[in-house]
Amino acid sequence: MTTERQRRTPYLDALCEYAERNPARLHVPGHKGGAGADAGLLRAFGERAASLDIPALTHGIDVGVEPTPFEQAQRLAAEAWGARRAWFLVGGASQGNLAAGLALAHHGSEVVVQRNAHSSTIDALVLSGLRPTFAAAELHPELGIAHCLTEDALAHALDATPGAVAAWIVSPTYFGAVADVRSLARAAHARGVPLIVDEAWGAHLAFHERLPEHALAAGADLVVSSTHKIVGSFTQSAMLHLGHGADGMIDESAVDRAVTLTESTSPSALLCGSLDAARRQAAVNGRSLLERTISTLTQAREQIRAIDGLDVLDERLAGRAGVFAYDPLRLAVDVRGVRASGYELAPLLREIDDINLELYGQNVLVAVFGMGERSIPEAARLVAALRTAVARVGLDPAGERLSFAAPPPWGELAMTPREAYLGAQEVVPAAEAVGRIAAESLATYPPGIPNVLPGERLTEQTLAYVQRTLEQGGSVRGASDRRLRTVRVVIE
Ligand SMILES: Cc1ncc(COP(=O)(O)O)c(C=O)c1O
Repeated sequence: MTTERQRRTPYLDALCEYAERNPARLHVPGHKGGAGADAGLLRAFGERAASLDIPALTHGIDVGVEPTPFEQAQRLAAEAWGARRAWFLVGGASQGNLAAGLALAHHGSEVVVQRNAHSSTIDALVLSGLRPTFAAAELHPELGIAHCLTEDALAHALDATPGAVAAWIVSPTYFGAVADVRSLARAAHARGVPLIVDEAWGAHLAFHERLPEHALAAGADLVVSSTHKIVGSFTQSAMLHLGHGADGMIDESAVDRAVTLTESTSPSALLCGSLDAARRQAAVNGRSLLERTISTLTQAREQIRAIDGLDVLDERLAGRAGVFAYDPLRLAVDVRGVRASGYELAPLLREIDDINLELYGQNVLVAVFGMGERSIPEAARLVAALRTAVARVGLDPAGERLSFAAPPPWGELAMTPREAYLGAQEVVPAAEAVGRIAAESLATYPPGIPNVLPGERLTEQTLAYVQRTLEQGGSVRGASDRRLRTVRVVIE
């Protein structure tokens, strides 16, 4: 329910008020509200943006009479998402994951982590020194993508890790699969630990009742939210939310200090202002904006399914292992029925009508839609370009496409990711790396699950699997040598 309060934008208003009153700017940034800026910069961004670009610790904005407009804006954000406290982040959801890891390290040294976590979660392990026990997400072998964790997988990993200080999961995935966060929270809480949810892709879920339940409402304790992705604040702005039930499990002051530690001392006022505005838009107009976007995408899905050779991911996925519900704001196209991979179709779509996708892999293309798309002409453009592309490349009789082989189990964790990252290292030929401890990650696409993380012992099966994926046209992320002729390992 929208309250009158949610119509306010205290931080954005204070920023505008400062710019409009022509203050003596005897502070950074050196462009002085635009007066000292390059003419091209002003043409590109506008004088207004430059005038709003002010530093932190400006009286009446984030220091002075409390609650300051900055504090008020964060409180409104907490209220809008149903959090006990919200922090504005200027380093993306990546910063949220780093801060979460550092905060958890105050409670102990072990943590259960979903294996297909974002790379910033692995970076958080490096930064915090936490020792992970990984829980395997469910695979969709035909599509070659990974979904979410099941309650059983999480319970099993937590039971195997009695010293764990938290369970750390991802939902929704890049492809729109949403986890059964309520059950996962129950499993974590039953074992006395908080549930951390990387909800980078789900900031909008709180604003329409037909969308899957959002993580805070489902009992999550700390939620990383990439507000810029779907809700529409500026790129790199994000939020970290503390749940109402987190008391006693997560030290709020540790989170606060971790946010500061992972952030510049000069956070961008433009990013923070955009978070204040995006929160208002979501709280006040989110429902009607989402209503329109959801219905346009429903129609686009029907049109894409009507194209011979194409299918879409949608709520039919719900009920599969690791998929509790589906987030319709992602338009994921299954291209297995056409005679070209996603890797080949993506540049073709660019050539046909300047269609720029969020993500593409062997079997799936992913187009992302924002909460506040206006008339969404992009959906129609995508459908038309897909029709042209399929007519050009032709169809592929079902079953001819290389099927995706599940990756072998990951190797033993011989040292923490931090120890491996900071330890003495050398680069060796891949053939000589078997049995050595990895100092880098190797994550093959498809399906994008790390096969190797820093600190794990490299096995013959894993190296052969990565090599085979490369030979079949896949790729490997994290590796310093993208062809895997060499691997960076720890000197023991
Ligand atoms: C699951 C997940 N978490 C975190 C991030 C990092 O978000 P940001 O780009 O806002 O730092 C991403 C980015 O794609 C992501 O997919």
